[in-house]
Amino acid sequence: MILGILGCGAIANIIFNTLKEDNNFEINYFYDNNVEKAENFAKITKGHYSEDFNELVDNVDMVLESASPNAVKSLIPQALEKGKDVIVLSIGALMDNDFRENIIAIAKKNNAKIYAPSGAIAGLDAIKAASLGTIDNVSIVTRKSPRSLNQNLKEEKVIFNGKASEAVLEFPSNINVASSLSLASHVDANVKIIVDPKVNENMHEITVVGSFGEIKTLVKNIPCAANAKTSILAAYSAIELLKSFNETLKIGL
Ligand SMILES: NC(=O)c1ccc[n+]([C@@H]2O[C@H](COP(=O)([O-])OP(=O)(O)OC[C@H]3O[C@@H](n4cnc5c(N)ncnc54)[C@H](O)[C@@H]3O)[C@@H](O)[C@H]2O)c1
Repeated sequence: MILGILGCGAIANIIFNTLKEDNNFEINYFYDNNVEKAENFAKITKGHYSEDFNELVDNVDMVLESASPNAVKSLIPQALEKGKDVIVLSIGALMDNDFRENIIAIAKKNNAKIYAPSGAIAGLDAIKAASLGTIDNVSIVTRKSPRSLNQNLKEEKVIFNGKASEAVLEFPSNINVASSLSLASHVDANVKIIVDPKVNENMHEITVVGSFGEIKTLVKNIPCAANAKTSILAAYSAIELLKSFNETLKIGL
């Protein structure tokens, strides 16, 4: 499979380095609105960078977005129009109902698929299954180190307490996990974001209560060296998704 990368930062770097020896993938087309970043990737990988996203789309089987919610909104429809499958990591963009419905319609028309991996949280498989029954409550408490938000705090501070649909407007780049949770459960999740000087990890504690019973998960994520906002697990979840396309036995999906 020839994979094109939209957004050449921390996640792209982990994905490329993990899959570069895997014969099932050729990762050699890169696009970034910071052209230098795409050029650097192309140099390291002996691949191609493009200043025109459409050129990338024309040369790949699938596009992996690891850029930003804006990139999802402005560029991903173009890939779907050309019938290319996409993997989206900036999942906050999918909380915009009109946009989401629009890209689903484009994908259907062009026989393409939109994949949104579980990212930096655990349990989306079970939460999706649970949503077949009645869900009464969905909540996520996220703790971030001040470093990940470029803040310098001595004591913990709640910076957001409300619904995921509101959080996405205030913190578009920090709300991917709450977005995935809401989309998987079909419930606008209660979100609390705490900046906590006692933690070094990005922590997410999820509670879902419904007719099936109760799910509680806690993930303590090690941040990427290249971007403290991003958890290594998010990149790994995209890699696992890519690998699953070649698996005969699929567990836990
Ligand atoms: N789903 C999850 O759980 C999860 C977890 C972590 C990060 N993310 C998201 O994944 C994305 C990438 O994360 P990262 O840590 O690799 O970020 P990063 O900042 O290290 O890299 C992003 C790259 O994308 C480029 N970019 C940004 N907007 C662009 C646009 N409109 N067009 C083209 N290029 C653009 C930037 O120049 C940068 O090189 C972010 O949106 C982040 O919020 C999702």
